[in-house]
Amino acid sequence: MSSSPSASSRILNSTLASLVMSEDEAAALIQPDSQIGMSGFTGSGYPKAVPMALARRITDADLRGQRFQVSIFTGASTGPELDGALAKVGGIHMRLPYQSDPETRKRINAGEMDYMDIHLSHVAQYVEYGFLGRMDLALIEVTAILEDGRVVPSSSLGNNKTWVECADKIILEVNSAQPLALEGMHDIYYGLGLPPHRQPIPLTKPHQRIGSPYLDIPLEKVVAVVHTNTADRSSPFKESNDSSHHIASHMLNFLEWEVKKGRIPSSLLPLQSGVGNIANAVLYGLEAGPFQDMTAYTEVIQDGLISLLKSGKLVSASATAFSLSPSEAASVMSHIGDYKDRILLRPQEISNHPEIIRRLGVIAMNGMIEADIYGNVNSTHIMGSSIQNGIGGSGDFARNGYMSIFIAPSTAQKGAISTIVPMASHIDHTEHDVSVVVTEQGLADLRGLSPTQRARLIIENCSHPDYRPALRDYLNRAERLSFGKHTPHLLTEALSWHARYLRTGHMLPQATEA
Ligand code: COA
Repeated sequence: MSSSPSASSRILNSTLASLVMSEDEAAALIQPDSQIGMSGFTGSGYPKAVPMALARRITDADLRGQRFQVSIFTGASTGPELDGALAKVGGIHMRLPYQSDPETRKRINAGEMDYMDIHLSHVAQYVEYGFLGRMDLALIEVTAILEDGRVVPSSSLGNNKTWVECADKIILEVNSAQPLALEGMHDIYYGLGLPPHRQPIPLTKPHQRIGSPYLDIPLEKVVAVVHTNTADRSSPFKESNDSSHHIASHMLNFLEWEVKKGRIPSSLLPLQSGVGNIANAVLYGLEAGPFQDMTAYTEVIQDGLISLLKSGKLVSASATAFSLSPSEAASVMSHIGDYKDRILLRPQEISNHPEIIRRLGVIAMNGMIEADIYGNVNSTHIMGSSIQNGIGGSGDFARNGYMSIFIAPSTAQKGAISTIVPMASHIDHTEHDVSVVVTEQGLADLRGLSPTQRARLIIENCSHPDYRPALRDYLNRAERLSFGKHTPHLLTEALSWHARYLRTGHMLPQATEA
């Protein structure tokens, strides 16, 4: 990348300024088999030049018949210049903790790349505990470098604090495309420590500051600084449709009922909203509700949260990253200063920390792939074996939130698949961590119900009418014939719906009412 005057004016520390080099020179410092901690979370704040230079190096090595792969740890998903470029050249040995890149997904599901899908709140401590081995390098995008060597972080924080602390060496990408007005929007907490010395985190309000706006960099570890000038690249959300409007309306009615019952205040409790089209559509739906002075303690700031901030219904949002559509990203980043007092970005070990989520009483709302009739939820696998994205932070919030709501249309793939099934083909969130299931058909409030009560409610309220008779039939027969009557199942039949889809391209069986 060229080093324009505006780029150099973002590097005020003389030691780091003396380490400026091209991305190819920086990539040449990376050894095969390295474990690299990179910045990046849901398409925000990921390094954009060195990963592509590394992909070119890997291709050259390939042409010479040499194997060159690295392991990549990030905050969460990144962009095509990182995951896409490195996956395409077969350069990734092990990837963790979350991805959503089509090429990466293809390689993982073809068995050509190892992937470890873990709770996002666990990642930093797994590295600090030494569970994942040595971290050779941290490759971090930043907005600017101050005179004393601390940095203004970029549009996500993820695990950057841990990566620079634990890695042997550091490469910084200083991205002039990130607005300087990001300065002051971060809150990096340095007091967490390790067991047995860990102390309570002093955070009791969603928007409370407990740390520093700057990331400390151990200067002696920095081996290269690279200028870049490329905006984050994210994916657009799908247009909302009748199904997402119905889901949003069921959610609104439910939350209003909870307020009426006196269980939650009229400003609700801090909201967490997961990744994906449906979760984003639900946030837009809250715009139509009566709730004012809402707050968010969440992982990502999507278009829907920005809309609520703009309308004034949402007072503040705490997260670890932006996750905006391309058009919203351009608009928000060019006016980022307007959001300075209302958005805080924190390391993901704090944004997703179980202690804080439980203390604040966060309402967790996440998308799902399927739920079974007993309320077990699959967020990650298609047909039980093919990874879609990963668990992300859904487990952190579902397990520890005030209540945990899972959302999906009642069918997928133009009706060929029911998302309500007798037995989930993979389980990320057990029946014990799921309070409410919502589809466009309706809402099932599972709190306080036994397994068979839950099953009746999910079938009647959430399943698609095309599949409802077959689900009733399954439950009726299971209640008669199951080995145990607590969670009735006919084991040889339980996953037959998925098997039928794989065989015939449609899940719908011949319904035989008992
Ligand atoms: N079987 C097969 N395919 C299914 C399916 C099912 N039961 N349910 C959904 N799909 C497919 C859809 O058809 C769609 O495929 P397409 O891209 O070919 O059209 C794709 O999965 C995405 O589905 P969509 O309905 O657009 O959902 P979404 O964008 O709201 O994402 C998840 C849903 C579950 C994939 C997403 O929420 C996710 O990755 N969750 C896990 C991580 C998480 O919750 N993080 C939040 C923490 S803060």
